[in-house]
Amino acid sequence: MNDLGFVHRYLPATGGSTRVLFLLHGTGGDESDLLSIGRELDANAALLSPRGKVSEKGSARFFRRLAEGVFDEEDVVRRANELADFLAAATSHYGLDPGRVTAVGYSNGANIAAAMMLIRPKTLPAAILFRAMVPLSEPPARDLSGRRALISAGRLDPIIPTANSERLAGVLEKAGAEVTVEIQEAGHGLVQQDLAAAKRWLAQ
Ligand code: MLT
Repeated sequence: MNDLGFVHRYLPATGGSTRVLFLLHGTGGDESDLLSIGRELDANAALLSPRGKVSEKGSARFFRRLAEGVFDEEDVVRRANELADFLAAATSHYGLDPGRVTAVGYSNGANIAAAMMLIRPKTLPAAILFRAMVPLSEPPARDLSGRRALISAGRLDPIIPTANSERLAGVLEKAGAEVTVEIQEAGHGLVQQDLAAAKRWLAQ
């Protein structure tokens, strides 16, 4: 099967929708994990959901890490470029509008989405980043004007301190992106308020 470089699921849009949600799972997830969240966020959007290619003791991820919260940044850059190439190939293959893509990433998936936006901003107009942190200590200088991001963090998250999510907001804003930050009364797992915040933000 032609998987365009990544094992993935693709569900076409319905009702004439042109929106594409690019779903990026967390560590240990797969290409099916976020489909129901994607559908809840937008009942009609096309859903494109790849599986991360890195295996950490059998758990799929989108890039290598040296320890929890300590990233192999060379791999982050390589994998973000590889994923941006997949997104471009997939939008062309499925006849989708690349200007209508919003990434929806959770945890490791949010971190690779943030890296994609920092490294290849033209490929990613918008991103919903659930439980995200700064993926690169020294991101390249890129113009992110016209890019939008929602960062939804958990105040009680033991893995990703809210200060780190807020630092990511600062990095994206400094490069010109329009960023909204929402802090939920939650831990690392998603809660209904995350989805409500994402729906509000998508409707803007
Ligand atoms: C990461 O490795 O991307 C973050 O620590 C989140 C995680 O996947 O646990």
